[in-house]
Amino acid sequence: MSASTAADLFRRTFGRDPDGVFSAPGRVNLIGEHTDYSGGLVLPFAIDARAQLAAGRADSSRVRVVSAQKPDEVVSVAVDDIWPGSPAVTGWPGYLLGAFWSVRETGRPVEPVDLVLDSQVPSGAGLSSSAAVECATVLAVSALSGYRPDPLTVARLAQRAENDFVGVPCGPMDQTASAACTEGAVLLFDTRSGTVENIPFDPAAHGLAVLVVDTRVAHSLADGEYGKRRASCERAAHRLGVPQLRDIAIGDLPAALDRLPDDELRRRVRHVVTENDRVAGTVELLRAGRAAGIGDLLTASHASLRDDYDVSCPELDLAVDTALAAGALGARMTGGGFGGSVIALVRAETNGSVGAIGDAVPAAFAENGYTSPVLRSVTPAQGARQEV
Ligand code: GLA
Repeated sequence: MSASTAADLFRRTFGRDPDGVFSAPGRVNLIGEHTDYSGGLVLPFAIDARAQLAAGRADSSRVRVVSAQKPDEVVSVAVDDIWPGSPAVTGWPGYLLGAFWSVRETGRPVEPVDLVLDSQVPSGAGLSSSAAVECATVLAVSALSGYRPDPLTVARLAQRAENDFVGVPCGPMDQTASAACTEGAVLLFDTRSGTVENIPFDPAAHGLAVLVVDTRVAHSLADGEYGKRRASCERAAHRLGVPQLRDIAIGDLPAALDRLPDDELRRRVRHVVTENDRVAGTVELLRAGRAAGIGDLLTASHASLRDDYDVSCPELDLAVDTALAAGALGARMTGGGFGGSVIALVRAETNGSVGAIGDAVPAAFAENGYTSPVLRSVTPAQGARQEV
């Protein structure tokens, strides 16, 4: 799957060349989980699985979309029917049409387009397949209308598509990672100030590798639990008299916990405040060239997500525990949770630990009667871009 697959399918479907091919990546989050809707710190990096999008200006008042997964099905929707909740929009085309709507909402004149999507980012794996599609579409629709938004604007428009069109109340991390990450770096994104900084992260240079274990437990943010966590954080911030939980410093945590009415709210707040502190600690170690030292912080993040934030599941816990027992330096769930993927930081000099984990995790899943997981190693890749 590549830029040329999307372009070829475009030619076969629409009988002409696309005006451009655009792509945007999925992401993993190294650390900083469930903090992005509380003004917190996150540290994702883009992976080399991308959504490719061939795009052409359409000679009509309709937007047509095709996916390489269903190459014979052309979905065609009148521009006037593209609005949140429109009965003309159902299923996967909503991510592309939502991004089209979002660019149009800026008030700029936007050309109708034909779009062909070929995505390598597995959906439901917690690797931000929807953000990849949205960012690629925002870039394509903007470029074809003569508009070149900067990466943070691409991210904002893509997040708006997800929040207001698709209807998922996600925070800004995934779209920002897909739009603004750079090759060879993690993205330190301060979601309170909206600032980003690329921090070099080259695991191989430290004899390390990052493995992703996709548990194949489909994860969805639309099932209500994500929204409940978000609402708890907002309720807690309100009770504590701060705009967002980010405003609780780690040293003020004990006093803040004393002021909360129940154990559940206290655990939610403890996760968010300690997680921000773990991101800061991770950044400090990376800046000091001590990438191998971040393992314990990753593992502590998982424990906090499992025990305090209640967003893990047995398959994620098993993948983490097995990876650690097989020699990983650290491991944690990545993304929204309730399924999806785990990342493990492993030593790669001899390929020994990679090999050991590659054997141990599938064996443990088989023993427990779980669906066989998919393992891949990932390196920090480039964010959204025009390919052709
Ligand atoms: C999902 C959301 C993000 C973020 C993570 C948890 O991926 O889309 O905004 O909240 O969950 O860190």
